Amino acid sequence: MALQRLLPSDLGFFTEILSEKYVLTDHEHLLRCASDQTEDLCFMPEVVLQPGSTTEVSAILKYCNERLLPVTPRGAGTGLSGGALPVFGGIVLDMRRFDKILNIDNRNFQVTTEPGVITQVLQETLRAEGLFYPPDPASKGSCFIGGNVSENSGGPRAVKYGVVKDYVLNLEVVLPNGEIIWTGANVLKNATGYNLTQLIVGSEGTLAVITKIVLRLIPAVQHDLTLLVPFRSAEDACRAVNEIFLAGYTPSALEFMERDALDWVLRFVGNSTIAVPDDIQAHLLIELDGNDMDALFRDAGAISDLLQRFDTGEILFADTYEQKQMLWNLRRKVGEAVKSNSVYKEEDTVVPRALLPDLLRTVKEIGVRYGFRSVCYGHAGDGNLHVNIVRGEMSQHDWDNRLTEGIRELFGAVVRMGGTISGEHGIGWVQKDYMDIAFNPVQLDLMKQIRTIFDPNGILNPGKIFKSK
Ligand code: LAC
Ligand code: ZN
Repeated sequence: MALQRLLPSDLGFFTEILSEKYVLTDHEHLLRCASDQTEDLCFMPEVVLQPGSTTEVSAILKYCNERLLPVTPRGAGTGLSGGALPVFGGIVLDMRRFDKILNIDNRNFQVTTEPGVITQVLQETLRAEGLFYPPDPASKGSCFIGGNVSENSGGPRAVKYGVVKDYVLNLEVVLPNGEIIWTGANVLKNATGYNLTQLIVGSEGTLAVITKIVLRLIPAVQHDLTLLVPFRSAEDACRAVNEIFLAGYTPSALEFMERDALDWVLRFVGNSTIAVPDDIQAHLLIELDGNDMDALFRDAGAISDLLQRFDTGEILFADTYEQKQMLWNLRRKVGEAVKSNSVYKEEDTVVPRALLPDLLRTVKEIGVRYGFRSVCYGHAGDGNLHVNIVRGEMSQHDWDNRLTEGIRELFGAVVRMGGTISGEHGIGWVQKDYMDIAFNPVQLDLMKQIRTIFDPNGILNPGKIFKSK
């Protein structure tokens, strides 16, 4: 059954469910929901709906399911794989009005929140109560927690504290037929049936619409400090990552930035307080956290000593709020800086951590053969390297036609290393053609059948994750 275009009578129905001001068809709103942070992609929806309650979401989905209208759920639009793009037009379900933290359960270290809460707002609200929700994507100042759950986001702290999936206990979701269910229970252990909660986490809005989220929390950590370590060889920086873990340390963040990444972001934010000497090829940004400041200083000293085995430059040691903010602000803005610099494609490769040097070497080697330049950075402690392929000198013809082959080669190598093609950005629209590299037909078929059970008519976020339907 083919998906349908909207009719004027559909708008009439939506205005009956929502008040008129939440049924948006003006160009400005349609345009805002036509793109996210993925490349320069743009797909116009036919209408943007802003529901304010689970019942409204249910009524909308039930109707769209009967009418076969495509529905694309949308958080803050910070995604990097095109998950929120309405590639078939239809309805964008803009979840911004779901912006309440419903219940902080201090006794049980849990929070129940709506999906449209900004991740940093959630974190800071919890922090004020002595509670800690660690996952912190680079976009934490603007992304929504619901988008984080849908994409199973990570961020720098994942290396010590895990990714979003490690905190989601239970979800209220609306199925495409309008049914409202909870997926699990608000408990730390659960061996009861299939794990529907984790099936929804990372399903990129293709199975159900999330309307409430229950997260587990941990006690707030009191102290942290940050080191910026320059290396004369980028591969050495990657090798050093694993040495830190082998020596028995688990930093709360261990980030890698190639020279261009730091250079470009310094220029992008107009920061002239850090100079990158000519012979420096990469940096590691290392954060340690804990409740005993003396122990942190000791560990920082021991890690600095250990790194002397490599050819490093002068280590910048940050323990004041301002210095730490400055370094982390730079790190968080690398993506934006690259985007502002050139046409680019962002890959989100991940391999077992010890193979990070091999991954970097492979990226560069494939780049030389295909004629592309790359700027690599990311969550080195997780073996998660963001490979930003910049157009540079590549001809438009090669960019349009040959690059895909280069990316396929890269992903093939990643999978042979025991890794996979997205660590935290998801598959969405831009990586779906590569799914056959990560999964065989049997695996893909299982996933598609699951999708069909949830959404037999294929109305929910169509065109994502899989090549067909
Ligand atoms: C980052 C985003 C791009 O790590 O994942 O900056
Ligand atoms: Zn990242």
